[in-house]
Amino acid sequence: MSYPIEPLRSDLNKKDFSCGKQLLDNYLQKQAGQDVKRKLCAVFAMTEGTTIIGYYTLSNAGINREMIPEDLRKKMPASYTDLPATSLLGRLAINEKYRGKGLGELLLLDALKRNNQVSQAQIGSMAIIVDPLDENAEAFYKKYDFISLPDSKKMFLPMQSISSLFKP
Ligand SMILES: CC(C)(COP(=O)(O)OP(=O)(O)OC[C@H]1O[C@@H](n2cnc3c(N)ncnc32)[C@H](O)[C@@H]1OP(=O)(O)O)[C@@H](O)C(=O)NCCC(=O)NCCS
Repeated sequence: MSYPIEPLRSDLNKKDFSCGKQLLDNYLQKQAGQDVKRKLCAVFAMTEGTTIIGYYTLSNAGINREMIPEDLRKKMPASYTDLPATSLLGRLAINEKYRGKGLGELLLLDALKRNNQVSQAQIGSMAIIVDPLDENAEAFYKKYDFISLPDSKKMFLPMQSISSLFKP
């Protein structure tokens, strides 16, 4: 079964979304629409009719070059103190009723694919950064090879690794 993943629409049923993390439920219900209007992030929802199965948000971000592993840093020109990246902010969630069916993975892959397309053709971004809410979320991202950034809870996945997933 495949479900569409599209920009958040106003007719979707936000109030019944429940992922077990109140912060992420409240964000979708009360703030996501406003943030989109203010151009703070883009929100994408996986849907079945007007039901929201899952969502994620994307924003521009920068990573201080000192934060990334040396092997990667060496390849980046020194003139970039802050390296361009994309942030998922840790706002990726699946409705509890739809868990454990591989849909979280599909949603994450959709975010990675979207970033790969944009970074190849439109706006530079050398990695995706996430800010996992807790240890569970951290374990989820670790499964997909996200690397912990030192001195912060954030994790990142280089765009080079992402691109290799979508090679034709
Ligand atoms: C994390 C979350 C998105 C996973 O969604 P899901 O639809 O249940 O996950 P999937 O069924 O797609 O799982 C895909 C794979 O990830 C694994 N996985 C799922 N959650 C995991 C976790 N917390 N830690 C480690 N692995 C996890 C699954 O076992 C599966 O692996 P497999 O293919 O080897 O069996 C979901 O549990 C969720 O919304 N949690 C609350 C919000 C949250 O923590 N979001 C994370 C960002 S802050």
